[in-house]
Order: sequence, then structure tokens, then C-alpha cells
Amino acid sequence: MTSELTSNITNQLKDLMRGRSAASAWRERRHLLDTRDLTKEELDLFIETAALFKRAHEHEPPLTLLTGITVANIFYENSTRTRSSFEIAARRLGADVINLDTKASSVTKGETIVDTARQLVSMRVGAVVQRHSAAGSAHLVARELGRSVQVINAGDGWHAHPTQGLLDLFTMTEVRPNLEGAKVAIIGDITHSRVARSNIWLLKTRGAHVHVAGPPTLIPPAMEQMGVTVHQQLEPAIENADFIIMLRLQLERQAQGLVPSIGEYRRLYRLDHTRLKIAQASVKVLHPGPVNRGIELTDELVDDPYYSLITTQITNGVATRMAALYLLMADQAI
Ligand code: CP
Repeated sequence: MTSELTSNITNQLKDLMRGRSAASAWRERRHLLDTRDLTKEELDLFIETAALFKRAHEHEPPLTLLTGITVANIFYENSTRTRSSFEIAARRLGADVINLDTKASSVTKGETIVDTARQLVSMRVGAVVQRHSAAGSAHLVARELGRSVQVINAGDGWHAHPTQGLLDLFTMTEVRPNLEGAKVAIIGDITHSRVARSNIWLLKTRGAHVHVAGPPTLIPPAMEQMGVTVHQQLEPAIENADFIIMLRLQLERQAQGLVPSIGEYRRLYRLDHTRLKIAQASVKVLHPGPVNRGIELTDELVDDPYYSLITTQITNGVATRMAALYLLMADQAI
């Protein structure tokens, strides 16, 4: 049953990949570290692959496409969604998974992150999914370990969170397949958000108009150079918006004096049903999680099945990560 299914999916994947230079571009890429240099063709293929895996995940038993490969999750920062969905995605493709307990690993004795990954590669781990608080940490491991392993950046400091950007893009394209000309607002703490950066690069490549809004202390000065429109107030950013991505307010920013008070932030930037009236009637709201309910958006909006895509984002995390693992690694399975 399983091998019959795998052969069916394999045929569909072959059809999808046939004659597409984007398929070899993905394989040659080896690592997924950022969204900045992903081409439109690579994104088209990615979205189609994620859609196929979403159907397979919903309706079919696990596949055997990555049998023989071991994926290591190395998370130096906490995670609910990303780590779990990478684990489920890898298992659904037939790979083995290990979750390194970084708090009990030899990192606590001074081992470097490169050496930690190197030990696992010596045990024939094929892919490292890494989250770390330092920007550039995934690039460092990829550079040092080269072609001996595939590195997927699961979040590096403020810099990038490519699979979150890809799952957000996939979720938006399920609602509106062509994002050319769509208005997408990103609201909140842009400065410290790897999600914002990864989303902006992808949305620009897809031809969307990106508007950001947040407290001036939380908007980086170089934002306009990324081709986005900057607002200090929420309303002009969300007016006529097709999608609104609300970002988590990192509560420690208040202690740093970057947000006057949580009450003030809520008054100026919290999204609710009343404020949503100036957006498109069909507007959809996203949030990468974890949500501070009542601060970034109201409880009612988080759970509103018409406007909120938050649950769909979480569901799509699995298919997105299946697509990332498959497109990077398919030629290595036994
Ligand atoms: N969106 C996101 O990265 O969530 P986690 O921190 O739970 O992985």
C-alpha cells in the first residue's frame, strides 16, 4: 500500500519537476538559508510541491521518498511550531529524525555550533535544521560543512526564517494564487523580526506591494531600501490591504524602552474587527506565532474563521517543510 502510494506520488512529483530548471536549481542550492535569492520559478515549483504534499498529508499514509536519510533538528532557541512541523514533515517523507537536546548537549561544555553539527554529520546525518539566536549562524555551519550536509535555517537571530516565509507565502497563495499587485501589510516589531525580512523578500519577488507599520523604534532605517512603504500608523498600512501579517511583540522590548507601554502599543497597533473594516472586505490576517492574545490582535480575531489564517498557517507548516526537505534532498534518498 505504502510503496504503491509512493510510486503514485513519485509519478506526480516527476510530472511536476519535468523540464523545470527550478528543480535542479533547488537541488544545486543544497542549503536553505534565506529567501532573498529564491527566484520566481523556484517559488512556483515550491508552492506546487507544497500543495501536492498537503493533499498527501491530509489523505494518505506516510511516504518513503526520503527513506535512509536522517534529519537532525538542532534548536538552540525554543520552538513549538517549527521544530514539530519539521519532525512531522521528515517522518511523513520516510526520513529518520533526531532532536538534539541542546541544553543537555556538549555545547554546554564549550563545543561550537559547527563542531556540534560536524559530530552529527560524522554519524551520517543528511540534513541539519538549525535555530540559533545569532544572525548568520546557519550560514556559518553551511559554509564550514560545505557539501557534506544540507543546512536549513529554522531562524537565525533577527535575520531570516525562510520556511516561515515560505509557509506564509503558500498560505496566501491558497487564497489568492497571483500576488502580483496585492497589498500586504506587516505590522509590529519589524526590527527584531526574522519573519518580516523573510516575508518581504518573497512578497517582493511575487510582485506584491508591501507596507509596514509599527512604533518608529521598531522600524529599521533601511526598510525603504527593501522596496517597502513605511508608516508609523496602523491605518494607512492596512487600508485596502489584501493580507495583514501581525508580528509578535517581543515583550522584553518594553524593558529596553523601545515600546512606551503595552497599553499604548495595544491602543495604536492592535488589530480588531473595527479596524479591519478599512481593509479589503476579503482581507485575511496572518500571524507566525506565538500570539500574545489581546496585544497584537484581539482574541476574537485570532479565532475568527473568516478572517484568520493562523490555524491554516500552522497546518501548512508541515507541507511547506516537506516541500523544502524534498526539493533539497530528493536525489539523495536510497
Ligand atoms: N513561527 C515560529 O517560528 O514558531 P515557533 O517559534 O514555535 O517555531
